Amino acid sequence: MAEAEKKKLFDTEQDHSPLFVNEVQRYMQQRCMQQQQQQRYVEQAAREEGDKRNAGSALDGGRAERDALEARCWTHDKVLQSPYLSDIWTMLDRMRPAYDKHGWDWSEKEDELFAEGMHFILLLQQQQLIGFTIFLLDEEDEQWVVYCYELHVAEGHKGKGLGKFLVECLEHVARHIGMVGIALTCFKDNDALRFYERTGFSIADHSPSKHNDPDAPYEILMKRI
Ligand SMILES: CC(C)(COP(=O)(O)OP(=O)(O)OC[C@H]1O[C@@H](n2cnc3c(N)ncnc32)[C@H](O)[C@@H]1OP(=O)(O)O)[C@@H](O)C(=O)NCCC(=O)NCCS
Repeated sequence: MAEAEKKKLFDTEQDHSPLFVNEVQRYMQQRCMQQQQQQRYVEQAAREEGDKRNAGSALDGGRAERDALEARCWTHDKVLQSPYLSDIWTMLDRMRPAYDKHGWDWSEKEDELFAEGMHFILLLQQQQLIGFTIFLLDEEDEQWVVYCYELHVAEGHKGKGLGKFLVECLEHVARHIGMVGIALTCFKDNDALRFYERTGFSIADHSPSKHNDPDAPYEILMKRI
């Protein structure tokens, strides 16, 4: 899509969901199934090798069915009416101390995250929310990007590749609609900075540390696709 066309398209107030929601939903579900198939393959191999301990725990009682990973790509209004809202707030609340520490207003968060144009990708297991990301299509430093506002994995589910999977889903959105990449803001003292580096982000040229404000408490990160 040409830059001029893109500008015209995204400058309007229209709902952009039809451009990607169904496609992202399809992609995520397919990837969830691939992950499960891989898991089953490992379980099968363990069973064939006679590793009864692994195979037994993995295969008994249809565990694969119960542990099925599901994904949803929803607009903000659908999330507001969903049963996952309180879990989203519980996970988001982990960020409150950082906002307080840096003098950022946490109370504005609700309006910001549930505003028109915000989209949510939710990861579910046994109908429980185990991770999510919130994003918007935006112009950043004169480039059209998927702007990631939040990305969270539930305690007890960290370190299993779910955060990386959420980044991959954002990349799919960006690629599908011709954005240059993903942008986000991260506090410098948040451990997640290392996670973003590991998943291919780097400090953007217009981030305060590279610009004129090295003491700013945050960095703007970019992942080009
Ligand atoms: C940051 C967060 C999303 C990572 O999710 P996760 O599912 O645990 O991460 P993954 O398992 O997908 O890890 C992907 C890679 O990042 C690395 N990584 C993850 N967290 C890391 C950390 N805190 N420090 C260093 N590396 C980290 C992993 O080792 C892995 O590396 P590898 O691919 O080389 O093996 C999760 O810890 C979280 O929800 N944190 C609290 C919320 C938060 O701060 N979000 C960011 C807001 S801007």
